[in-house]
Amino acid sequence: MLNFSYQNPVKVIFGSGVTAQLAREVPAGSRVLVTYGGGSVVSNGTLAEVRAALTACHVVEFGGIEPNPHIETLLRAVEVVRAEAIDFLLAVGGGSVMDGTKYIAAAACHDGDVMEITRTRGRCIRRALPLGVVVTLAATGSETNNGGVVTHAATHTKSAFFSPLLFPRFAVMDPARTLTLPVRQVSNGVVDAFVHVIEQYLTYPVNGKIQDRFAEGILLTLIEDGPKALSQPDDVEVRGNLMWAASQALNGLIGAGVPQDWATHMLGHELTALHGLDHAQTLAVVLPAMLEARRDAKRAKLLQYAERVWGLMPVDDEGADGEEQRISTAIARTRAFFESLQVPTRLSAYGIGANAIDALVAQLEAHRMTALGERQDVDLALSRRVYEACL
Ligand code: NZQ
Ligand code: ZN
Repeated sequence: MLNFSYQNPVKVIFGSGVTAQLAREVPAGSRVLVTYGGGSVVSNGTLAEVRAALTACHVVEFGGIEPNPHIETLLRAVEVVRAEAIDFLLAVGGGSVMDGTKYIAAAACHDGDVMEITRTRGRCIRRALPLGVVVTLAATGSETNNGGVVTHAATHTKSAFFSPLLFPRFAVMDPARTLTLPVRQVSNGVVDAFVHVIEQYLTYPVNGKIQDRFAEGILLTLIEDGPKALSQPDDVEVRGNLMWAASQALNGLIGAGVPQDWATHMLGHELTALHGLDHAQTLAVVLPAMLEARRDAKRAKLLQYAERVWGLMPVDDEGADGEEQRISTAIARTRAFFESLQVPTRLSAYGIGANAIDALVAQLEAHRMTALGERQDVDLALSRRVYEACL
């Protein structure tokens, strides 16, 4: 029997034209800091719609939150929060803006050294400003979870932090907002959501039937509609299913009570921190190599994945060789899926060679990422082999 507690207090406001509903969600009279990224929300009209919905509030804006948001940038926003006596944060953007805003929410209320927030993975957070989000990129699931990932640029350290105080109050999710995304970001979103499911599903069996079937449903949806977002770029129905899939992939539901891996993410974070790859690009590279390296430990779930997600059914008397073959095919299909979305799955495609590996492993060690995975058996030697297999 699984043991878990599950809580997700985020109010989801999903569908076409829902941005105007912000007016009801942000308390009238609030002093709101609207946060955004490099300007896509300015050029595609999202910010103007947000401003129009917030006429009952005092609005201050903070733009320039970069992808893989830097703590250094976010602390400038904290100064604005203090100077303007801000009491509500509204993130308008993708995962980086949402995560960055969660960090601002915690840092603005933090006494003492803010670096504690990442050092303790958020455990030190006692208070946070309330926040809401307007999603413009479906990928991370940040809109319906209580985590964030920020980068300390000075030390090339990418760290996650979590707190029940950092669930957004609401998530405004209009799939049409994602129609202006460049192909690379659409594909990134599909890959990120896919790997989020895999990190929680492809471990070892614990009879979590609902978690498993729901995870498989999300994967099948991404496999079905991910490519359509590229071939039918104006199809808002497709974007809607992808947006909801990405949110469900990391809102806590499929992970409730089941073992979780996350080693692919941790190896990926070092690739972003040292070489600047997009988050999803790192996952597309690392995941196939990671599954291959751990195929024995993950055997039962890999066979389930082969059968239920890729339709690779067992044949009579296939024996151990047949099973190994199906696992190999499932991993190959996974890689081919990422490649079909135009996300390269080899480090060489990003100009990274074998001479990069020592530094990546050293960073894992410096960040204490030495016992990863659902059984904490991914040590530095195994991580090195995975990086080598990514070349
Ligand atoms: O900055 P702007 O100009 O807005 O452009 C952004 C950015 O360049 C652009 N974009 C976003 N919405 C757009 C748009 N362009 C045109 N039209 C739109 N509607 O997309 C680019 C990438 O944005 P970003 O927010 O960085 O992407 P994503 O949503 O993939 O977020 C990635 C970040 O989330 C973290 C990652 O590590 C990374 O830092 N993650 C957060 C998680 C979480 N909170 O639960 C879990 C994930 O595993 C992940 O680690
Ligand atoms: Zn991710």
